[in-house]
Amino acid sequence: MRTPIIGGNWKMNKTLKEAVNTARELKEKLGNIRGVEVVIFPPFTALKSVKEVIEGTNIGLGAQNMYWEKGGAYTGEISPFMLLDVGCKYVILGHSERRQYFGETDQGINKKLKAALSLGITPVVCVGEKIEERKGGKARQIVDRQIRGCFKEITPEEAKRIVVAYEPIWAIGTGETATPEQAEEMHLFIRNILKELFGKEVSNSLQIQYGGSVKPNNIKELMEKEDIDGALVGGASLKANSFAEIIKKI
Ligand code: PGA
Repeated sequence: MRTPIIGGNWKMNKTLKEAVNTARELKEKLGNIRGVEVVIFPPFTALKSVKEVIEGTNIGLGAQNMYWEKGGAYTGEISPFMLLDVGCKYVILGHSERRQYFGETDQGINKKLKAALSLGITPVVCVGEKIEERKGGKARQIVDRQIRGCFKEITPEEAKRIVVAYEPIWAIGTGETATPEQAEEMHLFIRNILKELFGKEVSNSLQIQYGGSVKPNNIKELMEKEDIDGALVGGASLKANSFAEIIKKI
């Protein structure tokens, strides 16, 4: 019922040449793949060139962040219009690395979310708890607050166009994946909050990705779970080989 969605978050990696080469390889390996939504998130500097490579394929393009204003005196920021201009259809918002190192808050992410939605960019909104929060039994409470904060004043109609990524911080880049049971438990919890906020139809149609050390050898068991609709992949998306392998296991 929900199309699976696999994102490749390249983070602050790859020169222009490396990005273009990886995109070329991926295009070759995937051909005209169907039945799965594939999106790559190169660094800003490579967006335009990567877009030229994947033009005409089923691979979508997204950015890793953006600002909420349309333009103006905001040194160092990138506006949603600039993303549209280079062919981005998606944007990651509130990744835990942005929250952790750049002080992003649910309030700011909410503003970005509204800006993205108003311009037809599909936002991938990231939530997830820290290890000490999980150990302290607070994981649900944290995720609940993040979801409600990020989705504040969003209408059910708008909510339909959002992708959620549950990424427990302790699983990102650590090699320690959440078990499929741990992930499913939180995905279901998130879907229930979305149901409360936007109704059953919307919550049933929303794609919820899992992120955190997803690799070719663990994607299948994660995807078998009812409420896991895909993955946001960091490390394993940097090589076309492993990323394509993940996609083909869906
Ligand atoms: P990882 O990163 O796959 O390297 O753990 C996931 C992410 O941060 O989106």
